[in-house]
Parts: sequence; C-alpha cells; structure tokens
Amino acid sequence: MSKQGKMDCGRRRLIVATAAVGGAGAVAALVPFVSSLLPSERAKAAGAPVEVDISKLEPGQMMTVEWRGKPVWIINRTKDMLGTLTKLADQVADPKSEKNQQPVYAQNDTRSIKPEIMVAVGICTHLGCSPGSKFKPGAEEGMGADWLGGFLCPCHGSTFDFAGRVFKGKPAPTNLEVPPHVYLSDTRIMIGEDKKGA
Ligand code: FES
Repeated sequence: MSKQGKMDCGRRRLIVATAAVGGAGAVAALVPFVSSLLPSERAKAAGAPVEVDISKLEPGQMMTVEWRGKPVWIINRTKDMLGTLTKLADQVADPKSEKNQQPVYAQNDTRSIKPEIMVAVGICTHLGCSPGSKFKPGAEEGMGADWLGGFLCPCHGSTFDFAGRVFKGKPAPTNLEVPPHVYLSDTRIMIGEDKKGA
C-alpha cells in the first residue's frame, strides 16, 4: 500500500516536471491541484487499512505487518496452541475480554473471527514495549516448566497467552488490543477496517 503511495507521488512529480518543461500555463494549472492533493494523500496513507495475504502463514507461524505505525501480529495457531486457551482461562485477568473495548468478533474464547487466526496489536498495554514470542511450552524458552506458550514483555515482565490475554498479577492492565479487521477472502485480511470495501 505504502509502496503504491510512493509510486503515485513519484508519478505526480514526474507530471509536474514534464509540465514545467512544456509550458508555464500547464504548470499553473497543475501545481495547485498537486499541492492540495499530496498532504491528504499522505494523511490517508498513514491511517489507511492494510491488506495482508496470509496464504503462506503455516500453522504455528506468526507474521507482523505495520498498521498506523504499529506492529500487528497475525498468528496461525495450531490445535495445541488453541488448546492452551481453555487451560489458562482461570490464570488470565480478563478471559472474555470484558474489561476493555474490543471488536465484537474478539469477545469469544479465542478472541478471533476464525479460531486459528489471531490478529493483535503487538504493543504491551502497560507502557508500550513490544512483547516477544515465547511459543515453546515448558522451560525451553526460559519461562518455567509450567509455561504453555505465549508472549513475554521484557520491560516489566507482563505475560500474555496465545490470545493476547494478560496473566493475572502482571503490570499490563488489559489484554492486547485486537484491531478492526475483516476477511476479504480465506487468505486475505484487511487490517484497519471492519467492512469489506469500506
Ligand atoms: S511495558 Fe510491558 S510490562 Fe511494562
């Protein structure tokens, strides 16, 4: 999307440059149009939704895309990963995400539209650090033998499960944010919009 935006800007500059060589009248007509268009284009690109192809995201993998300058995680959760969510329901602070505003499609056991695909803003709700993935269960990730997998924020130790739900007694006050998103097809997600073609 941003690449496309850059191409458009470059193309417009080229048109202006060509017009400058072609004649003063053409420049006068073009410049006000260009100068009024570019700032709004820039603003639009900064807040624009992002379309993501998840066709190559294998079970157990996570990808990160940027939306409004924030990292957004998309995780293809395996059955085992999903199985941990039920086991952890009494260990997380807000199992049903009732505490903070969530899209309605995140107010369920998996906090997602499709059970396996998790979409979350990868920014800790405490002071904004970026949590790291600790997907392997057990002590292998340095998290203790009873760790079932999830995320650790290195700043003050908040931990989150595979649905971005914060564990009880941690500094982060709420679960990770689920951004507005919608499926355009089985393998394409639009981040930043709830409605197709909006
Ligand atoms: S910023 Fe994540 S625990 Fe403080």
